[in-house]
Amino acid sequence: QKVELSIDEIDKNGYEHYMLKEIHEQPHSIGDTFRGRISIDKTKIFLGGIIDVMPKLTQAKRIIIIACGTSWHAGLVGEYLFEEYARIPVEVEYASEFRYRNPIITPDDVIIAISQSGETADTLAAIKMAKKQGATIIGICNVVGSSIPRETHAGVYTHAGIEIGVASTKAFTSQVTVLTMMAFMIGRKRGTLYDELYKKLIHELTLVPEKIDIILKSENYIKGIAEMYKDATNALYLGRGCLFPVALEGALKLKEISYIHAEGYPAAEMKHGPIALIDQNMPVCVIATKDKSYEKIVSNIQEVKARNGIVIAIVTKGDETINNLANHVIEVPDCHESIAPLLTVIPLQIMSYYIALMRGCNVDQPRNLAKSVTVE
Ligand code: AGP
Repeated sequence: QKVELSIDEIDKNGYEHYMLKEIHEQPHSIGDTFRGRISIDKTKIFLGGIIDVMPKLTQAKRIIIIACGTSWHAGLVGEYLFEEYARIPVEVEYASEFRYRNPIITPDDVIIAISQSGETADTLAAIKMAKKQGATIIGICNVVGSSIPRETHAGVYTHAGIEIGVASTKAFTSQVTVLTMMAFMIGRKRGTLYDELYKKLIHELTLVPEKIDIILKSENYIKGIAEMYKDATNALYLGRGCLFPVALEGALKLKEISYIHAEGYPAAEMKHGPIALIDQNMPVCVIATKDKSYEKIVSNIQEVKARNGIVIAIVTKGDETINNLANHVIEVPDCHESIAPLLTVIPLQIMSYYIALMRGCNVDQPRNLAKSVTVE
């Protein structure tokens, strides 16, 4: 029997939407981000695009990361990693605020601009302003030859491949992969990251694609959870440390494609306001993999449960403690804590996708949104 497929269907490679295809591409897209940049023996990271500015980077008094939306969330993950491993102070700014704030910028500052499209108007304008004031500008972009890479002194392409779904998925994980590599590489050069840990971290990073493959196998289970909460009107996302930006990203994914009001918070901030929202109707997604703040996040889950909240927890495989507390757990493979953002965001992307689908929303082209925001 002859099967006729449209160009659109071919592009989607059999998936119903680009977003779902792009979620599933992540083991490959992340592999493409680090391919050729990590030595075969997994002992070195080499980012050719920033080699000329390495002296500036290693001696920077401060790094300022500028971006918008999901790229800004990637920047927040970068902040944790740069400060932890490279010991350089980092500020993460919304480009739209930074460009209008008359910020203090010196030639000792290094600006890292993150943008999937490379065309975001606010990010581009912020770069131009910082460049005029003598800062060194590095870009982390996906679209080759776009405007932002052309304005920067140096940069690293994410190589995630074309991203069509308005909700960014694989571009985010590739941005985080680049920032992770940069943090490890600069940390090693500065001597703030010792060789043994450096090699262990590189090895951990190379395991990410196969671990994401394992998470993707839970798709039907996550779809079942989506079915239960598709009619929620509000949702809260909580995380600590470098998983706080993942909470923000989870909330953004849900709101932009399903139109459910969602907020991301650092888990400890819950008691300063959002705890008042908790009732038996509100799902609270807690990103709670095993790391140095594990005990604290377990207490946060207990606080939600004590108020009859519904907890959906993203946990490290085999976590019995949270399994006994939460309404639902979604397991991810064990990993070093610096790698956890790359794994824990995947179930949140899948859950948002299915909730939006079940609510009849236009997943790939949500209302009022454009893939690339080229106006103010
Ligand atoms: C993410 O899902 C968004 N649709 C949006 O926030 C996006 O990340 C933002 O507009 C920044 O775009 P850029 O990465 O192309 O600069």
